[in-house]
Amino acid sequence: SPAPPFSLLPPEVLLKVFRYLSPEDLCRCGQVCTSWSDLAKTGSLWKHLYPVRWARGDYYRGPPDDLDQEPDDEWVKSREDEGRAYQEWDEDADIDESEEESKDSPAISAVQREKRLLNGMIQNLLPTVGPSVRSIVLAYSSAVSSKMVRQILSLCPNLTHLDLTQTDVTDSAFDSWASLGACRTLEHLDLSGCEKISDLTLKRLSQGLGDLVAAKSRPDQRTKLPRGPAPPIAPRSPRVRQALVFRRRPGGRAGAPSRVWVLDPAELADIEDAAEWRHRGGAAEGRGFPETDVQLPAPPGGMCCCRRSRRRGLRTNAASYWQQLAPAGEARCGHSPCCAGEAPQRTVGALCEPPVKGGAEFRTKGPEERECWPGTGARRTERQEPRRVLRLLSLSGCYQVTDLGLRALAQRGGLPRLEHLNLSGCLFITEAGLQDLVSVCPALNDEHFYYCDNINGPHADTASGCQNLQCGFRACCRSGE
Ligand code: FES
Repeated sequence: SPAPPFSLLPPEVLLKVFRYLSPEDLCRCGQVCTSWSDLAKTGSLWKHLYPVRWARGDYYRGPPDDLDQEPDDEWVKSREDEGRAYQEWDEDADIDESEEESKDSPAISAVQREKRLLNGMIQNLLPTVGPSVRSIVLAYSSAVSSKMVRQILSLCPNLTHLDLTQTDVTDSAFDSWASLGACRTLEHLDLSGCEKISDLTLKRLSQGLGDLVAAKSRPDQRTKLPRGPAPPIAPRSPRVRQALVFRRRPGGRAGAPSRVWVLDPAELADIEDAAEWRHRGGAAEGRGFPETDVQLPAPPGGMCCCRRSRRRGLRTNAASYWQQLAPAGEARCGHSPCCAGEAPQRTVGALCEPPVKGGAEFRTKGPEERECWPGTGARRTERQEPRRVLRLLSLSGCYQVTDLGLRALAQRGGLPRLEHLNLSGCLFITEAGLQDLVSVCPALNDEHFYYCDNINGPHADTASGCQNLQCGFRACCRSGE
């Protein structure tokens, strides 16, 4: 019998056809045969991912800049209703039932579809196309977990746009950024409404964006960069310690030592990791640092002014931050009066070329894009010079953020390209912390600079006020007035 006409087409022509297909149809094509499966995993077909929309039948695949930016109120309300319904159902469901699709509630089945889609992407798609992915929009997702975000970020090292608006993610989602240079291409980070985010995420972000100061002091770094393929980036797994335990026999004599695996609590990321390790027989311990057991190092120069606050909550956050930074020898706040010699770099102009607003040079030139032809893969990513190209950062409603987080961002050369900064609803930041960050953000556009109306901070006459006054569902010190 004659060969089917599609099998006669060369792969580059088939790829052109594939560009017109929705993600759902692409996945169906990937099930036809091995060569179509490989072709459907071409990196350029998966540059911009919108799992929340896709799970609801909206298959937009263009760049986020071309999208109508703000979803309308009705869409947001539908997602919130779905999230509530799913949460109630999930709490009531047995383990077995939770795997079955709910037939009765379209809201619950939409979230279930989204969850399946996310798991499928993480397991089957991103290990191949991850380095080609530039944008991931997970705004208003009820299904995404910190563990999923952590896996996604490990598999997509060249992201420029990440939107996690109004999701339930915690600091552990950004563990992979703790290694220097892990998110050097990131230009747009929206964490609006992520109430569990704290200073730790900002510290990891600052580390992941790279260090302009260190790069400046090593001018020959470029020539020393290793050539050749980068090692594959594997999802992070908790580190374990092996310990010998001597068990006492009933007669009172010590028996032969036996080995046990002990999960390092510093590496334990979230409850899902704990469950996984418990399932595998590990002795998982809780994450975090019991406050009474930890001796905090005294801040340089005695009690830091950053730790004085009207609110008790700030003290708690500050203590937690110190606890987490201290072991790494980074227990400093970056605030010039209390950290002599450790003040954030204020002369950004000396570290990088002056920014040109709206200019093409603002855009990150990502690593050379390669098509993932069958057998070649798209794993290779070039190591890049640190550029700290973040242009938009929204922490609206992230009320746990304090001056310590802002100063972590100000270190390593500041944010020389930052134009848009939203700190509405960040209740614990002060004028001093804002000033330290803003002083290393020369491109900041006051029109897109939002912070609490009650702070008489930098650019007070020209900056925009708090955006959460009328919001109703994001933190604001004046909500209810
Ligand atoms: Fe103070 Fe909104 S956080 S006015």
